[in-house]
Amino acid sequence: MSNLTKIGILFGQENTFPQAFVDRVNEKQSEFTAEFVSIDRVEQSVATDYAVIIDRISQDVPFYKAFLKNAALTGTAVINNPFWWAADEKFFNNALAVQLGVPVPKTILLPSKERPDDTNHNSFRNLQHMNWDAIFDHIGFPAFMKPHAGGGWKSVYKVDNPEQMFRAYDETGQLVMLYQEAIDFDDYFRCYCIGGKDVRIMPYEPRNPHHLRYAAEMKTTGDAGKKLLATMTDYVLKLNHGLGYDFNTVEFAVRDGIPIAIDFCNPAPDADIHSVGQANFEWVVEAAANMAIERARRVQTGKDNLTWGTFVRGSVAGTGLTAPDTKQPKAEKAEKSAKEAKADKAPKAEKADKPKKEDKPKKAKK
Ligand SMILES: Nc1ncnc2c1ncn2[C@@H]1O[C@H](COP(=O)(O)OP(=O)(O)O)[C@@H](O)[C@H]1O
Ligand SMILES: [Mg+2]
Repeated sequence: MSNLTKIGILFGQENTFPQAFVDRVNEKQSEFTAEFVSIDRVEQSVATDYAVIIDRISQDVPFYKAFLKNAALTGTAVINNPFWWAADEKFFNNALAVQLGVPVPKTILLPSKERPDDTNHNSFRNLQHMNWDAIFDHIGFPAFMKPHAGGGWKSVYKVDNPEQMFRAYDETGQLVMLYQEAIDFDDYFRCYCIGGKDVRIMPYEPRNPHHLRYAAEMKTTGDAGKKLLATMTDYVLKLNHGLGYDFNTVEFAVRDGIPIAIDFCNPAPDADIHSVGQANFEWVVEAAANMAIERARRVQTGKDNLTWGTFVRGSVAGTGLTAPDTKQPKAEKAEKSAKEAKADKAPKAEKADKPKKEDKPKKAKK
């Protein structure tokens, strides 16, 4: 029988968040011991000791992904849901955003430039030639081209004309790419969403070098600023409830006062103190610790303790995206966080730091 008495964190090269998370959970309570997850033999259908595991690394380690699915089957609340994380990608998520009423850039899915291994022209007999003129007309220039399941700004191209686009496409090999309208923005934000309720809106300047991206100020002010924060909070919650992520970030580019969701598939978002800065780091540690403790207390032995989004729950119930949001906590706290976020500006990052491989929100390779 299982003995779900611990809270664990599974991680890779990052050095600041895991220890701070473990310390905070242990400071707050003694019912569940928090520790770095320790794995030895992984046997089918044998439970771990963990009521909750925060997963920060399985996108880079397929062995961990399989370990986590087995843990989830035997009662562990794995954060984020390893099944959903293995299933979604940016194109589907954009399509879901459209259905949830969250603005996203106009986006087209492109077949990979090169054929996948062990396929030949016969494998593509269902695929027509692309009507590039129609695509360029629809998306316009400039445009972004980026992997549909990518992360860490790898293979992200901004192109100004068809020649640049084709040159970039030639470099993308077997990657399936999104081709997307570029949003010319006045403001840009990165928003943490933890436990489907706590939202932290961080002004972010993607055009700065990595270590200075959080050293940004919100430009929209007054009533427009208040409205923008409330709208972003609403969109962040809608997206995360739809997808079923417990720990994620959403990026918005704001054009003419409208926040347009750019990147919201970041189930292991960068939480390093050296990139997000002291105040954001403190917020993430506190929110993650509270979420983990709350989840550990709700865990029921022998049950599925994962979070599933309204997309999956609505599909199972046959109600579509209007599925009752029974498993998600209420959103009141997030409204408060939006106000706090405004008052509490992102501090300067202390130290230059290169993005680490596992900070990237990319998907586990199949
Ligand atoms: N459609 C877009 N309009 C404006 N900027 C974009 C767009 N798509 C991407 N970007 C810029 O490129 C960066 C990287 O793209 P993103 O989608 O976040 O990929 P990744 O998952 O690799 O971080 C974003 O932070 C943003 O600055
Ligand atoms: Mg991004």
